[in-house]
Parts: sequence; C-alpha cells; structure tokens
Amino acid sequence: MLRYYTAGESHGEALVAFLSGIPAGLKIEQAFLDRELWRRQQGYGRGGRMKIERDTAHILSGVHHGVTIGSPISVLLENKDWKNWQDSLPVGEGDPAKHKAVKSPRPGHADLAGALKYNFPEARYILERASARESAARVAVGAIAKLLLCELGIQVLSHVVSVGSASLTDVDVPWDKIVPVSQRDEILLSCADPETEQKMKEEVDKALRSGDSVGGIFEVVAHGVPPGLGTYAQWDERLDGLLAGAVMSLQAVKAVEIGIGVAAASSPGSAVHDEIGYEGRAHTGFSRRSNHAGGIEGGISNGEEIRVRGYLKPISTLRRPLQSVDFATREPVKAAYERSDVCVVPAAGVAAEAMVALTLARCALEKFGGDSMGELLRNYQGYCQQIKNF
Ligand SMILES: Cc1cc2nc3c(=O)[nH]c(=O)nc-3n(C[C@H](O)[C@H](O)[C@H](O)COP(=O)(O)O)c2cc1C
Repeated sequence: MLRYYTAGESHGEALVAFLSGIPAGLKIEQAFLDRELWRRQQGYGRGGRMKIERDTAHILSGVHHGVTIGSPISVLLENKDWKNWQDSLPVGEGDPAKHKAVKSPRPGHADLAGALKYNFPEARYILERASARESAARVAVGAIAKLLLCELGIQVLSHVVSVGSASLTDVDVPWDKIVPVSQRDEILLSCADPETEQKMKEEVDKALRSGDSVGGIFEVVAHGVPPGLGTYAQWDERLDGLLAGAVMSLQAVKAVEIGIGVAAASSPGSAVHDEIGYEGRAHTGFSRRSNHAGGIEGGISNGEEIRVRGYLKPISTLRRPLQSVDFATREPVKAAYERSDVCVVPAAGVAAEAMVALTLARCALEKFGGDSMGELLRNYQGYCQQIKNF
C-alpha cells in the first residue's frame, strides 16, 4: 500500500516527506525531482519568496546507489528562508518579543478557523502549516510516483486552461501540445496557446496593479493509463473519488472536474457519452471518438487519457486587504498582509500532477503488486497481454 505524509512549517527549518510502499529497484533521478520542485516554484504572479529559494530534494532514506531499496523513503526540503525566521519562529522558547504575530485573520485563509480550532490567540502557527509551501513536499514524493508510473508507460502533466477571465477557447488540448509546456525553461502561465497566455498575463498584471489576486483553472492529464485502475466495488476505491479528493486536498482548489463533468450536467446523454469503436489503441482494440468521461467510467480507468481539472480560488492575502477584526481588541481592522503570491495557477497544476501521480501509483500497485520493480513489471505485462488478447 502506497502511503505518504508531509511535515513542516512554511518558515520552519525544513519540510519533510515520507513515502512508503515503493517497490525495490526503481531508478531515482535526483535531477528530475529537483526539476519538478523548480516547476512548482515558477509562474507569473508568484511572490518574492520564489526568488530567494530554489528547492532541492535531499533524500534521507530508502534510496541507495540511485535505486529504491523497498524501505520507506524520506525526503528533506530545506527552507532557505529559515535563517531569517529562526529568532521569530524558534523550536525552543526563544524571545517572545521577536514573535511575528498575525493579528487580524485574512478572509479566505485558515487564520480564523484555525485559531479557534487550535486555541491560539493569533494566527502565526495556523498559516505556518496551512500555507501551500507544504505542497512542495508533495511534489517531491509525487516525482517518485511519476518515475514509477513512467516504468509502466504512464506520464502525468498539466497545463493552464484559464486565469481570471482569460480562457482557452479550444479547451481540448491534445497531449502533444501539453508536453512542450512542461519542457519550457521559462514558465509564464503554462498555457499551451501563446496568445491566450498573454491575455492571462494581462489578468495577473491587472491584479498586481490593483493590489488584488486572481484564480483560474488547470488541467492534469495522465497519458498511457491502462484500463482497469480503480474499481466500483467499494465507494472508497473508485478512481474518480480518489482523484477528486487528492486534487481537492490542495490549498485553494475549490472544485474538481473530471472530463466534461460540469457541462455534462446540462447536456443530453447523446452529446455526453463517448461512443465505442474497435480501431485499435495502445492497450486494447477498443477505441473512442471522444473522451468526455475524462478516462474514467464506473470509477475505473477506461484506457483513454485521464483528464482532471482543478478550479483555484484567488489567493486570500491581498495587498489591499479586506475587512477583518483584531484578534486582541475585536475592533474592525484590515486583514493582515505578509509577502504573498498573486497568481499560482501553474504551480497548483504542478502540485496537482503530484497528487494525480501518487493516486495512480497507489492504484497501480494495488492492482499489480510486487515488492521489486521486476515483479511489478512482470505482473503488469501479464495484464497488458490479457487485455490485448481480450
Ligand atoms: C502553489 C500555491 C501557492 C499559494 N500561495 C499563497 C500565498 O502566497 N498567499 C496566500 O494567501 N495563499 C496562497 N495559497 C493559497 C492558500 O494556501 C490557501 O488559500 C489557504 O491555505 C486556505 O486554504 P483553502 O483555500 O484551501 O481554504 C497558495 C496555494 C497554492 C496551491
């Protein structure tokens, strides 16, 4: 069973991720992990922090001589900003005068709900863990899941569909247009269409000028997925449910859509369901002329590309803050402001790739099993042969 956890605060010494259940013998490329972490840090509209930090994955256990050994993998990501925070956020008691309190909760952030829940008089410790800095740790272990999937011929990437009111007009972006987006050495807004990307940039500029923030939609695509991952047999084993939960668990994602899920609700069945043919595909002879289902029917992958969209709300830390209340005096004040991103849609897409990869890797390991890569691949090839001969 694939399991993972993360630990660490936004301005603490480091983030740590723990990943257990990866078979022995998977080749780990350090450069790939670091490139994934770099991709998460990019995008037009990120805050100043991204300029001072360049994440690297320091693997502490579970990998030796460049391959996994079947034992739990732990990864450490240093917070380069820690040197500026060790006095105000020490592990020991420290000097209370140096504490950086967050005195008025930001509407839309975890500040108020978290302070009430954990019984703190202000929100510093709340935002430290609620912050999406945590998603860097998920990207580190997600990269390992991607390497595993790659051995099975499965790739997971994302692209940006919309930022604010700037949106792709042709929303069916084929795989061969998504691959180059992920290979760019400079990341603007990860849109496959350059003209729309400029319009997206204008949306971010508008938000930057007015002290506001802007959200949007990303799409994660899993390519090469065989039919048969996930099952309808139990509610909590359905692939659509697992993916929705995984992507929704990312900070600021407020809706998840699989295939054309939202439009399907107001369309006739004849325009929604993907007609079946027999023209030969990678895994079986069966084919579809469309993929409105986003590659999942009955909670099972059906052999088409898996397409999952995440809808991101605008960032809640605003340079022109909204109305709030002072935690101590209960007087009306403006919400707290701390250096912040203005648009994070491409970065959220990268974090969502990690969540999709971890979910697919979990389902693949549950279906094909194996304590070593040799065993996993043997089982996988046997299944591929079975569905080819079906
Ligand atoms: C990649 C990424 C970066 C983010 N950066 C910020 C940020 O700089 N400032 C901020 O207020 N929120 C940021 N957020 C969103 C908050 O983490 C999120 O809104 C907050 O934790 C509350 O959770 P919720 O929006 O899921 O309710 C970011 C989200 C993501 C995915």
